[in-house]
Amino acid sequence: RNFSAIANVLEKSNVGDSTEIKGWVRNLRVQKELVFADVSDGTCAKKLQTVIPKHLKTDALTYGSSVHITGTLSKSPKGQIELVAESVRVLGSCVVLDGYPFNPRTTHPPEYIRQYLHLRSRTNYISAILRVRHAVTKHIHDFFASRNYININTPILTSNDCEGAGEVFKVQPDNDETVKAMMQEGRDRDSVYFGSKTFLTVSGQLHLEAICRGMGNVYTLGPTFRAENSRSRLHLSEFYMLEAELAFCESLDQLKFSIEDLMKYVFAKTRDTNEADLFLIDKDKAKTPSWIDKEFVTMSYNEAKEILKKKNIADTEEGINKEQELALVDHCNGIPVFVVRWPKDMKSFYMKECEDDSSKVDALDLLGPVTGEIVGGSLREDNYEKLKLKLPSEKLNWYLELRKFGNIPTGGFGLGLERLLQVMCGVPNIKDTLPFPRWPHNCDM
Ligand code: 4AD
Ligand code: MG
Repeated sequence: RNFSAIANVLEKSNVGDSTEIKGWVRNLRVQKELVFADVSDGTCAKKLQTVIPKHLKTDALTYGSSVHITGTLSKSPKGQIELVAESVRVLGSCVVLDGYPFNPRTTHPPEYIRQYLHLRSRTNYISAILRVRHAVTKHIHDFFASRNYININTPILTSNDCEGAGEVFKVQPDNDETVKAMMQEGRDRDSVYFGSKTFLTVSGQLHLEAICRGMGNVYTLGPTFRAENSRSRLHLSEFYMLEAELAFCESLDQLKFSIEDLMKYVFAKTRDTNEADLFLIDKDKAKTPSWIDKEFVTMSYNEAKEILKKKNIADTEEGINKEQELALVDHCNGIPVFVVRWPKDMKSFYMKECEDDSSKVDALDLLGPVTGEIVGGSLREDNYEKLKLKLPSEKLNWYLELRKFGNIPTGGFGLGLERLLQVMCGVPNIKDTLPFPRWPHNCDM
């Protein structure tokens, strides 16, 4: 590499250094004698101002073009590092009138930018979010590494519908001769794919639980799929879920503590490493003192329903809908709130019955501002007989068997990475938190 990353130039270089950079012109100001080009190469939120003598300016040097510039570092009148160009080579021109959708003098709203998925990494908004996403992922791995958790890759192809909500995508091979032959006989295609129905995973939890019962604390961060027919600003068909399974976990308090610890750690680290990006995404959010410094609130499902009733936003419907989730967070002054002890029939089969109330399970949802639910978790049923009664399918006999051989109490949670990014950065629409969002009927790019 015979050129420098702009992040390094801005942080580590000195006035007088000769320097070479490659990147994209984000903004161009042409004056009488000089041309000023703000160049970005993706490595940081800041752009490097380059000062180009007029005779080096060609027609191809416009905003949007890609460039290779050599020169010497100097200080601008405002005291900022700038590059005084000695040579400028345009690598790829950008014919703005040919349909280039972005203009440096306009602040484009996210809905507009989203129409150009293939070009949008050229914008401040999306590039800043993707750098924060990268940093958040790293901080998550650091958090678990420092606490002796082992990172496990759980399968994407699976035969279980962990959550039992029927929101699975089925996987079928196109070229399997057995399938073709059996379909010609009029057989149900599902029944013949390598002998069993196969899905894209909705959660790695059950596999994580198996490893946890031999290796202790484990976690996974990987793609997860839900066939929810929702085009809301909070749902994706493909998202990244962080799931952790805590070994020897006997109380929801332990689980709550870990989630709160994780979120505060990741948020504080990201503020240190990516402050300028957070500022680019939402100036106001970056300035506001954060909710993350406060202790999270806890309330039971029944208490939550009471509060909603008093506020007149409880309907007869069971459960807590999105409007109600956000009202509860509002009630807690924007501080995230754990809702615990849920009615058993509203939650998944693997959740542990409360010791003092068999109609409830030791489950939690963490609700936050912007998104409502960010995390779902529970203690796991460890009573063999109770679990056997609730097991949704014989295919999960392996899961039941985990309780037979050296079983331990465990609890775990799943946190939507994209929802966390929404909360941390104040991004209203989840489709802007990952490079290529998938939602119903939108998988063309
Ligand atoms: O509450 P969920 O369904 O929990 C589970 O899947 C458990 N098996 C996790 C566990 O205990 N290991 O999903 C967990 C989180 C939600 O709180 C939400 O943040 C996110 O995953 N999530 C989605 N994010 C984006 N788009 C969707 N369609 C999502 N569905 C869930
Ligand atoms: Mg949930």
